[in-house]
Amino acid sequence: MKSYDIAVIPGDGTGPEVTREALKVADAAGRKFGFKLNWHSYDFGGDRYLKTGEVLPDSAIGEFRKFKAMYLGAVGHPQVKPGILEKGILLRLRFELEQYINLRPVRLYRTQDCPIKDKGPEHVDFLVVRENNEGLYAGAGGNLFKGTPHEVAIQESINTRRGVDRCLKYAFEAAEKRRAGKAWKGLKAEDTAAGKTAQLTLCGKTNVLTYAFDLWWRGFQDMAPSYKSVKTDYAHVDAICMWFVKNPEWFDVIVTDNMFGDIITDLAAMIQGGLGVAAGGNINPEGTSMFEPMGGSAPKYTGQNVINPIAAINAAGMMLDFLGETKAGEAIESCVVRIINEKVQSLAAGKMGMGTTQLGDLIASQL
Ligand code: IPM
Ligand code: MN
Repeated sequence: MKSYDIAVIPGDGTGPEVTREALKVADAAGRKFGFKLNWHSYDFGGDRYLKTGEVLPDSAIGEFRKFKAMYLGAVGHPQVKPGILEKGILLRLRFELEQYINLRPVRLYRTQDCPIKDKGPEHVDFLVVRENNEGLYAGAGGNLFKGTPHEVAIQESINTRRGVDRCLKYAFEAAEKRRAGKAWKGLKAEDTAAGKTAQLTLCGKTNVLTYAFDLWWRGFQDMAPSYKSVKTDYAHVDAICMWFVKNPEWFDVIVTDNMFGDIITDLAAMIQGGLGVAAGGNINPEGTSMFEPMGGSAPKYTGQNVINPIAAINAAGMMLDFLGETKAGEAIESCVVRIINEKVQSLAAGKMGMGTTQLGDLIASQL
């Protein structure tokens, strides 16, 4: 039987609770589709840091390099100063393991979970490809005269031709694959910008950030002719925030830099029903990729069995899909869609009409 070794960091707060359900569902998928998952758990996170002062030793990064996939529950602890765990664990893994793509599918499963009037599942179904190693997140900058009235703070956005090109390439390929042979959401072609073809939208700010997004723009233009089946489009980041709310059906695949990707995917998560369902993958196609629910550690809900495990379960589905178990990934998503529609009262923590473990059990058993 095929088997996969996967490193798991359940993390802080509700991270371990949702991770448990995600692994449960992934194991059930393995039984159904004939593969085995060997989980290797690591206790990095707030508690370990408070006890030992250790955030993430170099040796752990070395160990993680041996895995093709990792699963991360959540990091963030109320007693740890903001930034230490986020930068020391999450961002460090993204950077050192060169997970240069942050992939965030945005799909609404049920009309009532969308806060936008008159929008349903046929309108909210797109994919955001966020650059994950550069931009403002690269940490370039510094201070002068800190703490004085003359303080200067500089935070620079790093954009390299190589980094931009590999991200664009991933996005063009994702756009090519996503639409291939599929109907366009059941909408009339003329009601969408993309019609029945694949579409890739570059999201930037070419009118103001004229160095960084000029590079992105040229990279985009240069690459487009190699992907003839993908229609290209451009939107400024502020405008895309407006269109996500007004006309989310216009989008198919969106590619953008690290900071804009961070911001627009929180907005996108809200129109797909919230952080209870939004999942993401930090992808290094040639190395170790890491899958995680988009939400944080939600400390106030810890240990109450009320947090929604679906985002975590969706992240596990993405991971299986990435590992080549596409049928398992699809089965998890369609089961999630069905259970949400048939059994879940609300996607919000504490309002689901059942507990975290019950929802996980239900999805695992109905798979
Ligand atoms: C995300 C998160 C992280 C980010 C934080 C926790 C560092 O918001 O995954 O979107 O900014 O990328
Ligand atoms: Mn974010």
